[in-house]
Amino acid sequence: MEKILIREMNKGEDIPYELLLLADPSREIIKDYINRGICYLGFIENSLVGVYILLRTRPFTLELVNVAVDERYQGKGIGKTLVLDAISKAREKGAKTLEIGTGNSSIMQLALYQKCGLRITGIDKDFFKRHYKEKILENGIECIDMIRLSMDL
Ligand code: COA
Repeated sequence: MEKILIREMNKGEDIPYELLLLADPSREIIKDYINRGICYLGFIENSLVGVYILLRTRPFTLELVNVAVDERYQGKGIGKTLVLDAISKAREKGAKTLEIGTGNSSIMQLALYQKCGLRITGIDKDFFKRHYKEKILENGIECIDMIRLSMDL
């Protein structure tokens, strides 16, 4: 794979909604994440191929939200590179814990996060029912609960 360059999104730069919407169907929630967090962009030869956001939640705790890779570039290791980059950025920022939440139906994401060293810590029951109007189906499973994962940095 060609080298991926990851940098912080600049103020005033266009928000890459198309990519961000792959990870979260709600524009409102994405806007909130962008306002509250730091958005990182991944480029291969000047093309934007991936994105993630780090959010400060509690003291010394960051949450990785909205990891997404352009469909044309998926399955090549970019997602894993982004998650590992987020872990080192969180560490550089002095966080002690990195958290991630994903849907009960997001089987591949659950594999990816655990391969990157995160462990399941809990279940936020009915999270997706509470926060999303539309029914979400993935891998033939209804997405209802949020699986919480965490890593000590
Ligand atoms: N089938 C099964 N597992 C697969 C797969 C496939 N086609 N492609 C990747 N994986 C799994 C493998 O376990 C792989 O681990 P490995 O490196 O040990 O083989 C792991 O995922 C990471 O693969 P990678 O190529 O780095 O993932 P990616 O670049 O495709 O990015 C996502 C993963 C989830 C970011 C990407 O698929 C995506 O943007 N999806 C839509 C947005 C989304 O769901 N975001 C997460 C919200 S919680």
